[in-house]
Amino acid sequence: MKRIGVMTSGGDSPGMNACIRAVVRGAIYNDMEVYGIRRGYEGLIDGEIEEMDVSSVADIIHRGGTILRTARSDRFLTKEGFARALNMLETFGIEGLAVIGGDGSLRGGVDLSQAGITVMGLPGTIDNDLPYTDYTIGFDTAVNTALMAIGNTRDTSSSHGRTTIIEVMGRHCGDIALYAGLAGGAETILVPEEALDVADICKKLLIGKNRGKLHSIIIKAEGVNISSEELRTTLEDRTGLETRVVILGYIQRGGSPTARDRLLASRTGYRAVELFRDGSASKAIGVRGEEIIAVEIGDALKTPKRSNAPEIIQLSDILS
Ligand code: F6P
Repeated sequence: MKRIGVMTSGGDSPGMNACIRAVVRGAIYNDMEVYGIRRGYEGLIDGEIEEMDVSSVADIIHRGGTILRTARSDRFLTKEGFARALNMLETFGIEGLAVIGGDGSLRGGVDLSQAGITVMGLPGTIDNDLPYTDYTIGFDTAVNTALMAIGNTRDTSSSHGRTTIIEVMGRHCGDIALYAGLAGGAETILVPEEALDVADICKKLLIGKNRGKLHSIIIKAEGVNISSEELRTTLEDRTGLETRVVILGYIQRGGSPTARDRLLASRTGYRAVELFRDGSASKAIGVRGEEIIAVEIGDALKTPKRSNAPEIIQLSDILS
């Protein structure tokens, strides 16, 4: 393969830049030309495409966000938009495309691969919701950001004797809540994978209060089917304990990537280049244990993600 493209798509995640760097420098090292596509599938449709060189990715390994920018594209889901995207790839002579993004972005990659483009999917999302890989690029940074917020919130919750609900992102996946909750010593972790039991939360809070515990941290994933504000009023009404809400929001999507995320981004990005170089069919690249893996892109999202929520929540209950 002589010429490849690289894009970031969907919600940005820390480590996307490290991954772009690996694809660009890896491609050039292996005598391929590499084109950067701005704003994901939106920019592809609009022909926002430029050749990159080794200097285009200088000084970005430590930066959050994505130098290629990103977008969520409804137009790509239409027949006309998809046809324009294919046409652009042909116009620029791009034979292979590295797509760094989450599930929606990889689904777009599956469609392009069915239309004859070789696509390498790279798992860029803070949500950790892709079933074929243990971890996604950006997840570790998001967990560490949430952890820092839990620590700060714990200080003030403890001073005031309050219960605090900290809402974290993850869409339909509870992994950020699980990992940050366990690592941060939260008293309660609520995730969409497990049924919500408000009575049980109240009981726990009251048992804690009766043994002199004045504050409590509840980590709630955004996908849980009650709003944080509704949960706050319900808990306050039922327990009489003063309760506050902190919604972390986009803070979790930014910041300098952790070492783990930079390593994952660099290793998966370079594996994409090796696969292009070796004439592989389209793949989704990820990690299992310590090993970088590549699975058929069409199979990557077929099975539902296995959640370790029961195990982590049980451990958190024992330890908190
Ligand atoms: O997929 C990443 C993510 O941050 C989710 O955790 C969140 O639900 C969503 O994106 C927010 O999307 P947007 O950036 O479109 O508001």
